Amino acid sequence: EKKLTPFEAIGEETLHSLIDNFYGLVAQHPDLAPLFSDDFSEIARKQKQFLTQYLGGPPLYTEEHGHPMLRARHLPFPITPTRAEAWLTCMSKAMDMTGLQGPLRDEFYSRLYLTAQHMINTPDDKE
Ligand code: HEM
Repeated sequence: EKKLTPFEAIGEETLHSLIDNFYGLVAQHPDLAPLFSDDFSEIARKQKQFLTQYLGGPPLYTEEHGHPMLRARHLPFPITPTRAEAWLTCMSKAMDMTGLQGPLRDEFYSRLYLTAQHMINTPDDKE
């Protein structure tokens, strides 16, 4: 029996709801909202593509945008430890709102935790 990828186990519909819930929270977060444009539709679309491939689904992000190079793509933005924590808090709340639970959630969140640490490019006091 073939083991499901996390993408298959979570399902596209749930993943898309998670990302829409997530950016709804980011839009209201005082430490995060100023980094983004007022229209979250394009970033939500890219994040759906990216997280699909991150979870073992089809490589939608790379097909349209090339190699993710996520750290490099975040360099124009001051990503402080405080903002990484805020990003993860919004993600955890979005997971609650979406009803994502159990080992699938825990493994996904652990990976996002590490990726978020990797995005930090600015100390809190240099922001
Ligand atoms: C883009 C913030 C972590 C995935 C962006 C953008 C900002 C941002 C400001 C640009 C939005 C725009 O184009 O208007 C942050 C902050 C993070 C964080 C504050 C805290 C650590 C992450 C993580 C992931 C991620 C952990 C993936 C697991 C992406 C993707 C894009 C993006 C896929 C689109 C890149 C592109 O094609 O332009 N992020 N991000 N981000 N972020 Fe993050």
